[in-house]
Amino acid sequence: MSTDHHAGLEDIEVLESSICEITQERLAFRGYNIVDLAAESSFEEVAYLLWNDALPSRLELDEMTKALRSEYKLPREIIEHTNHVPREAHPMAVLRTLVSSLGLYDAEAADTSGPALRRKEIRLLAKTPLIVAAIQRHRQANSYIEPNTDLGIAANFLYCVGGAIPDSETAHVLDTALILYAEHELNASTFAARITAATQAETYSCTVSAISTLQGNLHGGANQRALEMLLAIAKPENVDEFLDRALGKKQLVMGFGHRVYKNGDPRVPILRKHCETLAQKKNQLTIFKTAVKLEETMLKRKRLHANIDYYSGLAFYLLGFSADLFTCIFAVARMAGYLAHIEEQYTQNKLIRPRGVYNGKRNLKYLAIDKR
Ligand SMILES: CC(C)(COP(=O)(O)OP(=O)(O)OC[C@H]1O[C@@H](n2cnc3c(N)ncnc32)[C@H](O)[C@@H]1OP(=O)(O)O)[C@@H](O)C(=O)NCCC(=O)NCCS
Repeated sequence: MSTDHHAGLEDIEVLESSICEITQERLAFRGYNIVDLAAESSFEEVAYLLWNDALPSRLELDEMTKALRSEYKLPREIIEHTNHVPREAHPMAVLRTLVSSLGLYDAEAADTSGPALRRKEIRLLAKTPLIVAAIQRHRQANSYIEPNTDLGIAANFLYCVGGAIPDSETAHVLDTALILYAEHELNASTFAARITAATQAETYSCTVSAISTLQGNLHGGANQRALEMLLAIAKPENVDEFLDRALGKKQLVMGFGHRVYKNGDPRVPILRKHCETLAQKKNQLTIFKTAVKLEETMLKRKRLHANIDYYSGLAFYLLGFSADLFTCIFAVARMAGYLAHIEEQYTQNKLIRPRGVYNGKRNLKYLAIDKR
């Protein structure tokens, strides 16, 4: 096999973007360090920043919030569709289907010009969490909960899934996780969105490409797998035995390793701290200590750091979400980043079409079917 190609496009810079900067030391959205955004901002404000290349004034944020909340509603057909999907279907498969369907009820779906595009961005950011909540309610044989327009996206999502208005501390943890997940440069699903946008496809198709790509275990699916692994390990004393077995069989340990960060993921310490506080509050310290022990042992034995999916899985579990909903929550957050990239791709477009290195047979002679 030829070696002069770039398997997995590793370290290849394919386009210029002003949305997100990742270095080994830091992660920044539009120039603002993620550590500051996680500490000071809100998910809505971060979405504004990603789409407008500037932090909003108070008035601009109020307008954005108002616009988002006015889109806290799903077409009746989407709610009915949700109530007819098989309950055992994976929520990511249902989310992919329903975001695609949502485009059918948007009269502006095909219009990718400036103002229409902005209205679609608002709609997709506001409605995606409602779809995920509707999916979860249906799976648990519960009825759909009408959104509460007094709540921000994180608090309203918790309300629409669980039926109770969350306390501000709980909503803050989810809001922080949404901020941390909101954007991450040319990860696989965002790249998929940009490839689709680069063909001049309409916005819903781009987000469906992204959601489809997000669901795999090596990408967004890792948070579900990481939590399932932690639950199976159950307590810190079992970590070494688990790792002996997993590493002996050359299995991937989910939630570890990263294509870009080789010295650790800057989002991890922020989420780890929230997990510790939540675990204390919910009397679930055993699982938190198991996570920390596995993290330390993986670093010692394999030089591999935990990534965001490791601690987001634990945070979502401690917030009360079922494991197979985790990747959908990732999608709710990353929708902000997808839309920023789709817009950037539309405005500085070049069709994305790489070449492959052909390594198959050549110059075969065609034989008629009855002579083969
Ligand atoms: C994220 C990931 C796909 C990055 O892949 P990559 O950049 O292609 O890195 P590689 O697969 O080349 O990994 C380098 C080495 O570390 C090992 N490695 C990487 N991640 C590992 C993990 N989670 N568990 C065990 N070994 C791992 C690889 O087997 C490889 O070993 P080798 O050199 O002996 O073959 C990979 O680390 C992974 O599969 N992680 C688990 C899934 C996950 O958490 N995904 C979420 C990412 S945010």
